[in-house]
Amino acid sequence: MRPGKTLLLAALLLASGLAAAQPGGETLKPVSEFDRITDRQERAIALFTEAGKVLNSPRCLNCHPSGDRPTQTNALSPHQPWVVRGADGFGAAAMRCATCHQAANFDSARMPGHPKWHLAPASMAWQGRTLGQICEQIKDKSRNDNMDMAALVKHMAEDSLVGWAWNPGAGRTPAPGTQKEFGALIKAWADAGAFCPRG
Ligand code: HEC
Ligand code: HEC
Repeated sequence: MRPGKTLLLAALLLASGLAAAQPGGETLKPVSEFDRITDRQERAIALFTEAGKVLNSPRCLNCHPSGDRPTQTNALSPHQPWVVRGADGFGAAAMRCATCHQAANFDSARMPGHPKWHLAPASMAWQGRTLGQICEQIKDKSRNDNMDMAALVKHMAEDSLVGWAWNPGAGRTPAPGTQKEFGALIKAWADAGAFCPRG
């Protein structure tokens, strides 16, 4: 091979390597970018809409499906093999989540993992809902496991199962930004009155 060609090949390989190393790449705007919005309601809605990039990411949606079955991949395809929520969210008796999902990601088998890996209850279904509907329901104590605003903010900012979405293992797009940035947006939304996008 001519030296010129070798160089080009090396450059291409390097470029594709760098591209592959980019995790997801989608970022979140910092809270400070919303300071200029003086109207509280407008600011809250803008903050929640930014946080919505995370809420609507496949990493969250796959565990907050509208039916009894989780979904997989960025295309939200039905979980293979067929598994269901079961009475406690950890699967039916014969097909528990932990049979396959271990305490940590297992990259060589592309298996996501976490010690508490289980499906969100039906009252917390997000798939097929608008961001406004998701917003209303996560604030609703009758549907959110009786969490007040402080508990809700803490859950988003610190819960480690939520945090898995930014550390989803090989071959999976992480949620946008970082959990810290996401938590800050949610906190600022709560402080601005927790208004929801309309519709
Ligand atoms: C028989 C094995 C098996 C069982 C049991 C199982 N899963 Fe999975 N699950 C998998 C495999 C394999 C993948 C990875 C598929 C892929 O992305 O290539 C997966 C992926 C997922 C994903 C997608 C994660 C993402 O965003 O990419 C979710 C969500 C999920 N499983 C939830 C559950 C839940 C909840 C249960 C229990 C109710 C469960 N699974 C039970 C094998 C299993
Ligand atoms: C592996 C499955 C799984 C993943 C991934 C997941 N969740 Fe959940 N989520 C749950 C379960 C289960 C609950 C119920 C509470 C509990 O047991 O922790 C829940 C509850 C919640 C709640 C409580 C309020 C409500 O109405 O939904 C919020 C908020 C939430 N999740 C946010 C997120 C966010 C944000 C992400 C992505 C960054 C995410 N979750 C990813 C399983 C998951």
